[in-house]
Amino acid sequence: MMKPPVKILKYLLPEGFPRSTLMAVQGEPGTGKSMLLIEMAYKTLKMGEPVVFLTMEDTALTTVQKFLTMDWNVLPFLKNRSFKILDCFSYRLEKYKPRKIPERIKKLSDEISLGVDLVSEPDNYDLLWSSLERDLEELGMVERGMVLVDSMTELLTVVSDQADFLESLKNLKAKVCKTLFVPFVYSLHFGVFDQFRTILECFDDGIVDLRFSPTGLQKGLLIKQIRVRRMSGVHHRGEWMTFDIKRGEGVVPLE
Ligand SMILES: Nc1ncnc2c1ncn2[C@@H]1O[C@H](COP(=O)(O)OP(=O)(O)O)[C@@H](O)[C@H]1O
Ligand SMILES: [Mg+2]
Repeated sequence: MMKPPVKILKYLLPEGFPRSTLMAVQGEPGTGKSMLLIEMAYKTLKMGEPVVFLTMEDTALTTVQKFLTMDWNVLPFLKNRSFKILDCFSYRLEKYKPRKIPERIKKLSDEISLGVDLVSEPDNYDLLWSSLERDLEELGMVERGMVLVDSMTELLTVVSDQADFLESLKNLKAKVCKTLFVPFVYSLHFGVFDQFRTILECFDDGIVDLRFSPTGLQKGLLIKQIRVRRMSGVHHRGEWMTFDIKRGEGVVPLE
């Protein structure tokens, strides 16, 4: 079992969750999927366990900036190699050479470089999964640590054969979750590839739903809520919990 790294999940999963879990974090854009993944990454590192983070929608640099704006300093973890970012977005910038980059951005870029791998062809998922497996080995991830992907939706947009990709994901689940006992957490948007979402849901071990409260929406308010829909192998509370995101704290449950 793994202790959930995020407070609200500790309440929803009082006994923790199996380390062999393939977990989807699902919801509409803006419901807080990326923030939840960022918090899971940081708090796992703080628990002394390694993390591999695949960024599909952001560069490694802008991902690190998101941690820093939350007052979560991940630089030491990148330097001591307990935190690895697989940057699957910056390849889009390969031919783009801006004339002027602010000095502090250059400095931050250098500071994080030890912990960043640039992935030049994320659509080649066999290659992507083998670099991931190499990182897991390098970071000594057996029964410790966590892999996070933000987002699987974006990865689905770049692969050419989605049925083949799904097959590769099942093999990856067998290796990472079921053999190495490392949880694999990915975010997934609602409203795109919904047919795939239904298929993915069949082989997820855990599903965490995020939404805007329906009663809030009626009043024109965006109130974020979280629920654990499924967690194989362990008891979980099934209620919706209302939360906000606060600097320095992350996901904070509201009354
Ligand atoms: N640094 C932050 N501080 C406070 N709130 C934030 C911060 N970053 C994001 N949020 C809040 O979280 C919301 C959801 O962000 P995000 O995690 O990117 O959603 P998703 O990935 O589900 O589309 C934002 O619209 C904002 O309200
Ligand atoms: Mg997001």
